[in-house]
Amino acid sequence: MLEFKNQLPFIENTSLQEVIKVCETPFYLYSQDKIIQKVEMTKKVLGENIFFSVKSNSNQAILKLMQSLNIGADVVSLGELKRSLSAGFDPSKIIFEGVGKSKDDLTFAIQKNIRLINTESLEEIKLLQSLALEQNKYVDIGVRLNPNIDGGTINKISTGKKTDKFGIEINEIENIINLMSDCKNLNLIGISCHIGSQISNINAYKNTFIEMKKSADKFSLSGINIKHVDLGGGFHVRYNKNDPEFKIENIKNELDDCFSKSNYELSFEPGRYLIAEAGILVTSIINAKQNGGINYLIVDAGMNTLVRPAMYNAYHEIEEITKKTDETMNYTVAGPICESSDIFVKNIHLTKQSIGDILIIKNTGAYGKVMSSTYNTRALPTEVLINGENFAIIYAPDKIEKNIEEDIIPSWL
Ligand code: LLP
Repeated sequence: MLEFKNQLPFIENTSLQEVIKVCETPFYLYSQDKIIQKVEMTKKVLGENIFFSVKSNSNQAILKLMQSLNIGADVVSLGELKRSLSAGFDPSKIIFEGVGKSKDDLTFAIQKNIRLINTESLEEIKLLQSLALEQNKYVDIGVRLNPNIDGGTINKISTGKKTDKFGIEINEIENIINLMSDCKNLNLIGISCHIGSQISNINAYKNTFIEMKKSADKFSLSGINIKHVDLGGGFHVRYNKNDPEFKIENIKNELDDCFSKSNYELSFEPGRYLIAEAGILVTSIINAKQNGGINYLIVDAGMNTLVRPAMYNAYHEIEEITKKTDETMNYTVAGPICESSDIFVKNIHLTKQSIGDILIIKNTGAYGKVMSSTYNTRALPTEVLINGENFAIIYAPDKIEKNIEEDIIPSWL
């Protein structure tokens, strides 16, 4: 995404130096062109029924862009639902998932007539029925099934095994069918699943498709006509050159093998795949030191800005923008947070760097800003969107003083 023209870093036709002049580091920067390319490519392979997983990047400028590309939104909280509506998504293009939806969340979703509320338990179906009855409404719903498939991803982002908290076990389908006959205000028209994130194993997709086709047929045979089969997200992004290569076209082949003779409308909910590679995190070196023979570069972004390395041991490639010499050094890049896990990467080779130089942390468009926090009482990161030679700040965080003012000291203290 970052290109060097006459040794100066550019994103699309915008000079990074120009952005740095007006934006304090650390900040996230996204390329509109890259996002458009990825969405168009995905639609070309998997069809028009793509619902962007808002949790991966919920900035309303990004949501507006997604909406302008004619894709829908997949939300997992009332906040994400409100954000998507505020960004202009038509309710008919919003799917509401989530293992813990409250009465208020469901009431709001019913009032807004969104495309589908995907339920994740028999109890939730009962609650939804009582709320729909109360409002005298007929509501289209889906059920998220748990197909008991191990996607082969790391445990912290695996969701499709029967011991995971997500979805309704596939062997409960009979119970769902029975329950639906008591739910006169609900119209079960969809099934969905999501077996985890960062999944590259094609067999896992294949087995999921087979289970979902069998399940949809089972419902249909019982007289519940399933219209939508939502196959989730989870498509793999290559963060590391050693990562397996993942081709979305291979999924398409499996999909055709499994569903070509059926009339179900298939849909997907990718997040990471559409936006991870379109984002970078720009950070400044604020300290350089040697401890125990390790060359530390301390940058102003930390685990509060990008938590993925500390939380999942995730790898993000780091690149320098200033190459003063050809000589490289072995560095460990760490954030300023007072925790040993606040390390972005160990033992990388960069040309000699000094305090004030800028580093780029790559492929951070997904699960970057959305997971940032004010830990250690530090401000949230700014976000910038690049469009050709134009750029716009799309999130300007509050000054940290505002955060400090939000605490309320009770009168007895
Ligand atoms: N649909 C559902 C129901 C999901 O739970 C998720 C992600 C997605 C779709 C989108 O998955 P994706 O296409 O982005 O892989 N914070 C973690 C990732 C957690 C994903 C949770 N669910 C990370 O930084 O790797």
